[in-house]
Amino acid sequence: MNTFLANRVKNAPRSFTRAILDVIGHADIISLAGGLPDESLFPHELIKKEINHSLDTLPRSMYQYSQAQGAYDLRCEIAKTYTNSNPKQILMTTGSQQGLDLLCKSFINTGDTLIVEAPSYLAALNLFALYDANIEEVTLTCNGVDTVQLEELFKTKKPKFFYAIPTFQNPTGWSWSEECKREVARLAEKYKVIVVEDSPYNAIRYEQNAGVGFEELLPELSVTLGTFSKTLLPDFRLGWMRANEDFLKVFQSMKENTDLQSSKFFQYVVANMMSDGNLDSHVKTLIENYRIKRDAMVKSLKDNLGETIEFEIPKGGMFFWIKFKDEIDTMKLFDFAIKQNVAYVPGSVFYKDSSHPSPFARLNFTNASCADIEEGIKRIKIALQEYIK
Ligand SMILES: Cc1ncc(COP(=O)(O)O)c(C=O)c1O
Repeated sequence: MNTFLANRVKNAPRSFTRAILDVIGHADIISLAGGLPDESLFPHELIKKEINHSLDTLPRSMYQYSQAQGAYDLRCEIAKTYTNSNPKQILMTTGSQQGLDLLCKSFINTGDTLIVEAPSYLAALNLFALYDANIEEVTLTCNGVDTVQLEELFKTKKPKFFYAIPTFQNPTGWSWSEECKREVARLAEKYKVIVVEDSPYNAIRYEQNAGVGFEELLPELSVTLGTFSKTLLPDFRLGWMRANEDFLKVFQSMKENTDLQSSKFFQYVVANMMSDGNLDSHVKTLIENYRIKRDAMVKSLKDNLGETIEFEIPKGGMFFWIKFKDEIDTMKLFDFAIKQNVAYVPGSVFYKDSSHPSPFARLNFTNASCADIEEGIKRIKIALQEYIK
């Protein structure tokens, strides 16, 4: 069997996400691990209404093959609502994960360097490894990346792009300060490095005002990735890329070679939900509910793990990034947690080299109920007591 396989398959990093999904599939486990939305908040009735409206009003040509860029109506809505650009600069993708793939197809030759935050989004790290990219890391803190380190990397490693999640990051929930964004834009301009801003969590904000994006700071040299997976639901697989028109044509051609086009039906449905204001109302409902869950997690963490951990309260997004004191290795602690029927993601998997022990853990607060959040954190406390015995 192995003789048939491409090198990239043999070298594929083990997906911890897959391992976690296997574990949390078992009944009785409280999962604070996945980055999943709350299923009870998927707006089923609204979707039914919008789908029926689309079926009644769209022409039959909607079912036909078409150009890969995506439904014009939706590109218009995205351009004006999220990206401060025009519809020609938007390409619809099959989730923003496809946007990441098209970026690699367009920019990365074997051995090319790209830069990521440390820590960064696990599925992006895995994908970049499949393209045999040389991945360099820049340290992330709760206010942004270390720009001195970044400049050194820009200067010495000549990266193709810097992949970043500046707002409510996965896994940390942290956001860059405006000062940091401006400095990164200045450096990118100086060293001619593309900044890829992945922005799946930007609209899920509990306190913070919308900050400036790279489409404004660096319109020609940045690419924005967006998605409806977090604001609506993941299963429509609707994402987008925003870039200058030259880059966009390349991404479009790569998409044509990958899957010809994404399905347009749900693009029209979502375009309608945006123009009639229903998506916006739905996002407000999500935010109200997720804020309650976030606050429940803050309380449970303080009550149960108090002095043993440190964390920032996320102002948006879906995650807490907690740091255990006393040299705890959260990968080892994970086995104790599973014995207590609770799951989280150990911090080490979010780095290029996941073999280093990490005192960090990512906890998701959007998927579980408030009662399960409280019970889950109590179980982590028991796991910790067992671990340090
Ligand atoms: C940072 C980041 N980028 C991209 C994605 C992929 O999202 P999509 O469902 O749009 O492919 C996720 C999903 O969790 C994510 O956290």
